Amino acid sequence: MSFYIRFLLLIVMVKCTTSVHYKCVQGRESTMRINLDSVKWNYERLISKLPPKHPVMGVVKGNAYGMGAVAVSRTLLRLGAKYLAVAIVDEGVYLRKHGIKAPILVLGYTAAFGQGIDLAIRYSLTLNVFSIEVLNAIQKKVRNSALPVKIHIKVNTGLSRLGIEPDEVVPFVKLIKYGFYPNIEVEGIFSHFGYSDAIEIESLKKYATQQLKIFKKVVGKVREIMNIPIAHIANSNGVEYLGEEAHLDMVRPGSSILGFRSFAKPPLSLSSIVTDVRKPAAGMQIGYRENVTATGNQWIAAVPLGYADGLRPECGDVGRVLIKGTRVPIVSGIMMDQMLVDVTEVYPVAAGEPVVIIGRQGSSEIRLEDIVKMCGGTEYSWASQLSKRIPRVYVKKNRVVYCENDMLTY
Ligand SMILES: *Cc1c(COP(=O)(O)O)cnc(C)c1O
Ligand SMILES: *[C@@H]1O[C@H](CO)[C@@H](O)[C@H](O)[C@H]1NC(C)=O
Repeated sequence: MSFYIRFLLLIVMVKCTTSVHYKCVQGRESTMRINLDSVKWNYERLISKLPPKHPVMGVVKGNAYGMGAVAVSRTLLRLGAKYLAVAIVDEGVYLRKHGIKAPILVLGYTAAFGQGIDLAIRYSLTLNVFSIEVLNAIQKKVRNSALPVKIHIKVNTGLSRLGIEPDEVVPFVKLIKYGFYPNIEVEGIFSHFGYSDAIEIESLKKYATQQLKIFKKVVGKVREIMNIPIAHIANSNGVEYLGEEAHLDMVRPGSSILGFRSFAKPPLSLSSIVTDVRKPAAGMQIGYRENVTATGNQWIAAVPLGYADGLRPECGDVGRVLIKGTRVPIVSGIMMDQMLVDVTEVYPVAAGEPVVIIGRQGSSEIRLEDIVKMCGGTEYSWASQLSKRIPRVYVKKNRVVYCENDMLTY
């Protein structure tokens, strides 16, 4: 065979293997779809507010707010993010095991005892450090390592959650500088705004501005002692509402990129199908609730998603899903693996009929914010609770480019 024919064959083979890889394997027809074009749109909107090439640390904690940390991380890195952030060491290890090589900061606490520090060293994770005990434990464990462990010092400027108090930062940095910590590299210093959009924006903006002022003062002081390259504080709202004052050396957004704002495009949708339909006789119980009984004129359909998939029980009796482009009510409670919906209004409906829980169907739409209105909770808590039992399918330009089904990965 000539070289060219072999070469062409090779390309065809590679193409075929890749497309097989993207074919999603799942045993039931309930699926989360994550539109990566929306992630891209949100990311580009965010960076348009920053100076060119300003470093972005993409926050992908909580399995990227439920949307799948691996695919979302790869997307953000491709879009230009320089750093990733997770909440706990295990989330960082998970990304490393999926081949992600970018720097990863663990935002939460890693204990001086236990195995967290060992894992962080083994998988080159950057640690948030705000206590001497943890600092000492890292130095002790990393002694024989060729590479230093990178840390970012956390300062509490007003969230009252984690971090060193502002006036204790200088002594802490002096201790690192003049003490014996040869294998620890202080790469960054950071703080976090108590700035969520659930409460009134103006008052929070005022509070965040105050936090920013405290943080900048601390950063100025410690930089007289030690060169700490990366200072960062701005989450999504910091970028959105505080402007360039808050950009510092890097920004640290998560939720706005993942669509949790009225100005953002929501990438997430969740769909399933009807599995069975019936017209229960008058008086017959519907679901597990003895107080929910049939009138005799209702058509009831089963949908195979339940609270083990992350749909919260609060949605029983009050939630709605889309069938045939119409919002139909969930009746009785959300069960572990299924729910029942009243489809009388859209009957005839047969097994196999598509059901949308989050997203569009025809000209109708149910957004996460609608679910919060119907059932309570918050958009973040809804999305991040969608369990790993639901396969996640990633779409670009209407084509599936990747999928993940944790149940079938071993
Ligand atoms: C979650 C989190 C972020 C990202 O916040 P968003 O509001 O989602 O942009 C940034 N920093 C820390 C410490 C966080 O915990
Ligand atoms: C049935 O009882 C549950 C509490 O067990 C309640 O939440 C629900 O609203 C009741 N439903 C109806 C239709 O009365």
